[in-house]
Amino acid sequence: MKSEIDIVTLSKLALSGKEADIRMYLAKAVRKLRTTDPETSKKIEALLKDNPARSNEVLRKSINDNHNSSVLGTSGDSAIPLLKSFSDNIANYPSPILSTSLEEQLSQIIKERKHAQVLSKLGLTPCSSIIFQGPPGVGKTMTANWLASQLQLPFYTLDLTAVMSSYLGKTGSNLRAVIDFAKSHPCVLLLDEIDAIAKKRSDDADVGELKRLVTVMLQELESWPSTGLLIAATNHPELVDPALWRRFDLEVSFSLPSTEQTTLAINNFLGDDLEHFSHWIPLCIQAFKGDSYSNIKKRIHKLRKMRILEPNSFEKQIIKNLLSNTETMTRSERIDLATRLVLEFKTSQVKASELTGVSRDTIRKKLKENQK
Ligand SMILES: Nc1ncnc2c1ncn2[C@@H]1O[C@H](COP(=O)(O)OP(=O)(O)OP(=O)(O)O)[C@@H](O)[C@H]1O
Ligand SMILES: [Mg+2]
Repeated sequence: MKSEIDIVTLSKLALSGKEADIRMYLAKAVRKLRTTDPETSKKIEALLKDNPARSNEVLRKSINDNHNSSVLGTSGDSAIPLLKSFSDNIANYPSPILSTSLEEQLSQIIKERKHAQVLSKLGLTPCSSIIFQGPPGVGKTMTANWLASQLQLPFYTLDLTAVMSSYLGKTGSNLRAVIDFAKSHPCVLLLDEIDAIAKKRSDDADVGELKRLVTVMLQELESWPSTGLLIAATNHPELVDPALWRRFDLEVSFSLPSTEQTTLAINNFLGDDLEHFSHWIPLCIQAFKGDSYSNIKKRIHKLRKMRILEPNSFEKQIIKNLLSNTETMTRSERIDLATRLVLEFKTSQVKASELTGVSRDTIRKKLKENQK
């Protein structure tokens, strides 16, 4: 009879010194042994729980990923190759820019953790499952990572879209293995793009596989250990099954940055170049209206590179670059912009008219009005 634990595989893993892989293998074995040998299953489970992961070993540095992420998994079908663990300097993970209400919600989560013992005396447990929703590039993944660093827990992320596309048919068991692994020690597990599996069950495209996955998730959410934190993230809250949504302890909504947050983000992303760009910040704020943090970061980095690489045409380039959204502006916004270009940025009236599509006559008229 084939044993649930393959001694050769286990030896290989043990000798390779990869703790994360050993834990994952054992977590899978615990589930399998539950029916065939419950006593051994319990013993291994206890061992996993009593020996929390030493983060240095669990978190391996990646050679080729600039996020310092590594992909956990062994070779063959026991792999969970899509589970990434992040080893960015955990203690110093940069804090995201947050709205006041978001900041309050997150500090509540941290506070509950820190006072878990006091809470448990009253039969209360800290929040252990959260769903993040919001448009792309506003800090859902970043905030999950930051929370892990604040709680000093290892951080793992599983992109469910990737899991779905590569492992259809085996997704259920892969998801289970990831969940077992995450439950075996205190950590933060981010299930990214949860809508990929959590589509409303009425959706025609949903086949049995998706339904089974939702069921797995529902069961797991009920029993997520309060020493760990499960975070799910989605850009499409409307696609997530309400039955699943309700099971999360907390819902956190992220939004596009306000003008104040855009200003903070610009200042942050300018880094050491802040001084060189101070003149352009008002124009940047206007130009980045409606952009996500991640787009703002990209645009600022592009400008910073331009300043170094094209110093002679920098002024012309930056104006052109920042004014790429004039088509979506209202006429009065364009007129305002044209006059500001002339007054604040010393652009010629001809150039301002060309860049904004506002006639020179209108610009002149507006300038005269301003002088009155
Ligand atoms: N609130 C924020 N404060 C500071 N930087 C941010 C913020 N949000 C996003 N960024 C920047 O944009 C990058 C991408 O953000 P992140 O991956 O967290 O977005 P997301 O909301 O998870 O997007 P998606 O829905 O596409 O997964 C971050 O690495 C960071 O550099
Ligand atoms: Mg994300």
